[in-house]
Amino acid sequence: MRIYLIGFMGCGKSSLGRRLARRLEYPFIDIDNEVERLSGSTIPEIFSSKGEEEFREMEKGVLQSTLDIQKAVIATGGGTPCYSDNMDFMLGNGITVYLKMSPASLSHRLEYARRKRPLIGNMKGERLLSFIESKLIEREEYYIRSHCIIKGESVRPGQVISLVFGY
Ligand code: S3P
Repeated sequence: MRIYLIGFMGCGKSSLGRRLARRLEYPFIDIDNEVERLSGSTIPEIFSSKGEEEFREMEKGVLQSTLDIQKAVIATGGGTPCYSDNMDFMLGNGITVYLKMSPASLSHRLEYARRKRPLIGNMKGERLLSFIESKLIEREEYYIRSHCIIKGESVRPGQVISLVFGY
């Protein structure tokens, strides 16, 4: 069983993923961390030196390499499901769980976590909120195809386990 966690930047995919993996005793894969490890560069460095398109290629490569592992919890990047055929790939090779969160909650959380996220750069306040609102409308088209949708604000690993495994 591969569990792919999906959702906008800042919705908590990595922290939930780490806890969920520990609980299930599955390996945990964070796509962004893998891209950084394999390229030897940070995500902001990749965006600025090679461009977003190159980043999307690397992200896709790491996503596809999850097929080598039978059981894993995988935290995707906020854009992963929205490029190439990545969403179809995840739907066909695992269970996809969308951590849905309101733009207000996301902007509150992202306000203090912008440094590692080149797409939001130095946006803050109203500008950050309106960026999130419009980007989320675009991206939800992909996110909502997930097998399960959970409210991200106070999600616990146990909730994901009952949804995915039915207990
Ligand atoms: C991105 C989200 C980031 C990272 C990159 C691009 C996006 O991951 O993959 O900065 O397009 O939304 P997080 O969702 O973990 O912040």
